[in-house]
Amino acid sequence: MTVKKIIRLALLTLVALVLLFGLIQLIPLGKDHVNPPVLAEPNWDSPQTLALVRRSCFDCHSNETVWPWYSNIAPVSWLVYRDTINGREHLNFSEWGRGNQEGLDELAQTIESGEMPPFIYIIQHPNAKLSPAEKQALITGLQASLR
Ligand code: HEC
Repeated sequence: MTVKKIIRLALLTLVALVLLFGLIQLIPLGKDHVNPPVLAEPNWDSPQTLALVRRSCFDCHSNETVWPWYSNIAPVSWLVYRDTINGREHLNFSEWGRGNQEGLDELAQTIESGEMPPFIYIIQHPNAKLSPAEKQALITGLQASLR
């Protein structure tokens, strides 16, 4: 292949990618950024516990999701939407009376192991990362709040 051919191929690929990017914006998926009403919250033991949960968990486990600007841009929008809907199904601090939610042991375990908040979320929200002391404070606070 000559250099000219390679350049032409690269340009064509670029144009195709830009077109594809434009086209997927038209797919009506993950754009429905509704925050349902807050029905019932746990009886938080302290403002600190609430502040920690809000900071690290609320975007995916409450009805008070802050939807970032890129949550409107596919394909990232699909991932953000899926995580939020899926997260709320497992655990929703805004629908606390609801049954079939994850239990305290499960919460503590995911926080301790660093499984939650998910790594991919922390990349975009460095502030959601919990230090070892904050993890401990959050677990203790949840134990006191969710009894
Ligand atoms: C980026 C969104 C997001 C954030 C932030 C987040 N979670 Fe999750 N969480 C999910 C999703 C999605 C699931 C569903 C299970 C899965 O797909 O891994 C889940 C599942 C869980 C589960 C069920 C156990 C499991 O692994 O399936 C627990 C418990 C949990 N999260 C606790 C928390 C706690 C506590 C925080 C805050 C410290 C938190 N999560 C922050 C998205 C999130």
